[in-house]
Amino acid sequence: MANVSPEDFNRAGNMEELLSLLGEAGIENGWAKREPSMYSVPKQNFIGAHWSYAQARAALDAAGRFVNTELAERRNLILNNPVPGNYYPTVTTLVTAYQMVKAGETARSHRHTANAMRLVMEGGPGMYTIVDGKKIPMIPNDVLLTPNWCWHAHSNETKNNAYWIDFLDVPLTHLVGPMFFDHHEDMIEKTDIVDENSPARFPFQQTVARLAAAEEFTPGCRRIELGNPAMATIAIHVTRLDPGASFSEEPSTLSRVFAVMQGEADAVVDGRAFSTKRGDIVAAPSTKAAKWTAKNEVYLLRVSDEPLLKYLNWLRPIAARA
Ligand SMILES: [Fe+2]
Repeated sequence: MANVSPEDFNRAGNMEELLSLLGEAGIENGWAKREPSMYSVPKQNFIGAHWSYAQARAALDAAGRFVNTELAERRNLILNNPVPGNYYPTVTTLVTAYQMVKAGETARSHRHTANAMRLVMEGGPGMYTIVDGKKIPMIPNDVLLTPNWCWHAHSNETKNNAYWIDFLDVPLTHLVGPMFFDHHEDMIEKTDIVDENSPARFPFQQTVARLAAAEEFTPGCRRIELGNPAMATIAIHVTRLDPGASFSEEPSTLSRVFAVMQGEADAVVDGRAFSTKRGDIVAAPSTKAAKWTAKNEVYLLRVSDEPLLKYLNWLRPIAARA
């Protein structure tokens, strides 16, 4: 900086004077930092948290009375991790939302650089996500992808409201910076093409069949991956638990959001116990252990940032420390 010359530094007689000059120059010293920039294990402020679909569904129905899809880009409820001052991420890299589109309604076409996917709770023949000009059916427990920059809209041509759960890597996009967003010049892409076999769709029927043929990774628990990975930053796994079966995930750098696709299960994340039903969400932030125990047959979706961490060679266990 122009206001502190090399001669000024040459004249510095002690540490105090040097620190004062550095301050004037707009330079931070690296030997007595305000906060350490490196530490032995990752920091994590987010906590294990649970959201009830029954509660969210009622809230969406209420929103349906006051919020239409002309006012709102999307009628959704953001599941922000419940720590003070946080209004958006569910876990470090991911945000999760419940969404509803009323019977006969559409949610306009847009695209964004954030990767998105959804798990259908209530839909059926006539409920579509329109991805890049093709109608993709939204049948309960289907998983649909709308990767980086794909146009997407939602069209409910059924007689019932449709509900689903969105998962996006928006917090990651915010952190790194490359957020772009466009509206389509048509409110909604007009198309009659229905693509049931789109690579953007993982029908539940296929998920069930694949799990039936999968090996157990622990007694009573089988797991498959949807996609390889599903998107550049997001991996999707589905675990089937037999009644009474249980599995644990040790603390690691992985950020995870679980969604119960079917059945009822007890979850313990970060020492917090949750009783869950179909459609419920459990946030399992990085560094936190997670344990699931099925009360009956359970299908459990796990959305994580695994591909990102693997790519960066940052997927690591976090050993328990006394
Ligand atoms: Fe979107």
